[in-house]
Amino acid sequence: MSTTIQAIRGMNDILPETIHRWQQLEANLQDWLAAWGYREIRTPIVEQVSLFKRAIGEVTDIVEKEMYAFQDSLNGEFLALRPEGTAACVRAVIQHNLLYNGPQRLWYAGPMFRHERPQKGRYRQFHQFGVESLGYADPDMDAEHIVMTADLWQRLQLPGIQLEINSLGDSAARNRYRSRLIGWFEQHAELLDEDARRRLHSNPLRILDSKNPAMQAMIEAAPKLADDLDEQALAHFETVQKITASQGVQFRINPRLVRGLDYYNYTVFEWISDQLGAQSTVCAGGRYDALIEQIGGKPAPACGFAIGIERLLDILEASQQTCTPASPDVYLVHAGETASAMAWDIARQLRAAGLQVIRHCGGGSFKSQMKKADSSQARYACIMGDDEVAASTLTLKPLRSGEAQITLPLGDAIARLTQEETR
Ligand code: HAM
Repeated sequence: MSTTIQAIRGMNDILPETIHRWQQLEANLQDWLAAWGYREIRTPIVEQVSLFKRAIGEVTDIVEKEMYAFQDSLNGEFLALRPEGTAACVRAVIQHNLLYNGPQRLWYAGPMFRHERPQKGRYRQFHQFGVESLGYADPDMDAEHIVMTADLWQRLQLPGIQLEINSLGDSAARNRYRSRLIGWFEQHAELLDEDARRRLHSNPLRILDSKNPAMQAMIEAAPKLADDLDEQALAHFETVQKITASQGVQFRINPRLVRGLDYYNYTVFEWISDQLGAQSTVCAGGRYDALIEQIGGKPAPACGFAIGIERLLDILEASQQTCTPASPDVYLVHAGETASAMAWDIARQLRAAGLQVIRHCGGGSFKSQMKKADSSQARYACIMGDDEVAASTLTLKPLRSGEAQITLPLGDAIARLTQEETR
């Protein structure tokens, strides 16, 4: 016997029983993005590996260890499933010269792929809603992103979600800081674990993110990036904080917040939930003023963020927010050749009137069809047999209200169903 084929580890099917939660959240997110004036962009799921190497950084976890990269067997190109959306969005903006028309507020949604160790809230295929504002240099755009995400949590009535922000300064500041940090870690080399030793010269800032308890005190006492920021970076960061506070959004400055992608400068931020356990960041982003030029475009500033949809759904579920699945309005039960032919026509009329209609398929007795009608969760069974055809009537049986069934002339029956829908 052949073994059954399963989905890839860390990549999940989303079944009809839960899809309504996704659809409702996606609709809410789209309304929210429209309310803030953002327009959608769709890019391919596969891109050149070199795009991600250039954008995210060669010595990041994502590029070094987590990318689904492969060589196209037909033309030898090195390709990758996108691990995130920013690089592709920027690539598309450059390719289609969108900044020619002025700054752009864009959003995208879809699956991303990272070969991480799967656990709750961390998957190998996961979904993001991302936002990128390109061509905006001033701190009011950093603040817009923070305030608009706060607005989303309010719209979704999300409890227990906190904002952490930091400034990474410009690349000169980060280089100064890098040297100081390497010096500090070298002084405490005996405390560094294997991962930290590996990163010491390639990406020392990431050592700050370590969760190793044995290193915490030493990391806590490490030099702070804030001391390397120049006046311009400090002023930018202060304005972001001022606008954010003026809009009633609370935050904590976390000097250790450095993010795992190399393209950031100045403001970075993360929204962290107390409902998610280890994978607690539900939304993250920041400014990336050098990226457009790095990918080959004319220099232009930009910033953005992305929300993890699985994690957002987990918080909504943990806060007991229910959302009811859509169920059909009508299940059409029919027996006999003429009635069956008529059922197509009635179904078409009801759908044209905006109703959700299931026309029974596969024959069977009235009794077995009624059972299926019941389990479909439809509001009405609409029954057509020889009697109904002969008299040009329809029998309507309410399936959930407990009311008695009623036989009406065809037109009246259709009117009854469609009127109920609009009430
Ligand atoms: P990121 O921090 O790598 O940033 O991911 C953003 C969010 O995606 C995370 O906060 C988390 O909610 C979700 N996420 C990431 N990895 C996984 C995973 N393996 N499983 C489930 N959820 C995950 C970015 O991707 C940047 N492109 C964000 C950005 C946009 N920065 C500027 N513009």
